[in-house]
Amino acid sequence: MTTFRSLFTILIGFTAINAVVSQCDCINSGPDETICEWACTYFIYCQNNNEIRIDCPVGEVVNVDNGTCDTVENVPPPCGVLRNCTGKADGYYANTDDNCLSYHYCEGEQFMSNNICNDGLVFDEAQQICNWPANVCPPCGDGSGDVIEPCTRTS
Ligand SMILES: *[C@@H]1O[C@H](CO)[C@@H](O)[C@H](O)[C@H]1NC(C)=O
Ligand SMILES: *[C@@H]1O[C@H](CO)[C@@H](O)[C@H](O)[C@H]1NC(C)=O
Repeated sequence: MTTFRSLFTILIGFTAINAVVSQCDCINSGPDETICEWACTYFIYCQNNNEIRIDCPVGEVVNVDNGTCDTVENVPPPCGVLRNCTGKADGYYANTDDNCLSYHYCEGEQFMSNNICNDGLVFDEAQQICNWPANVCPPCGDGSGDVIEPCTRTS
């Protein structure tokens, strides 16, 4: 039993570590700050073989054009679009004006941030994750795959 539990802990630990490894390869990166991974709320750049992660403060988003955190108003879509969270429960919502390629987070009826799904995925409000379009109900996906019937948006 103890052995089983240790193995379990190791597996969970391994998964957690795996999840935070970035796509950046900073070997031989030189002094230039090259952004190698970003989303609306953080970016990672390489400099002198080091990988440096910047998390934007609440209320700011990544302006990938100039490699900084910036106020939402100064940043182009999808990160820089203010969303209306009035009357919405805490949670993640698809940005339907962006074909659900991005989504936003509301907490306490306040808009917290936008974020972007990985390539090929759209936001699935029912499951609160980015998902394959076939597995997401319209209008974000086509609902032809693995969905809970009837296929209706939950919000
Ligand atoms: C970054 O660029 C935006 C325009 O996209 C500009 O409004 C903003 O002031 C710039 N920020 C800095 C720190 O240069
Ligand atoms: C935000 O949504 C609420 C509820 O639907 C609405 O009453 C309000 O006018 C909206 N605010 C803006 C700025 O669009």
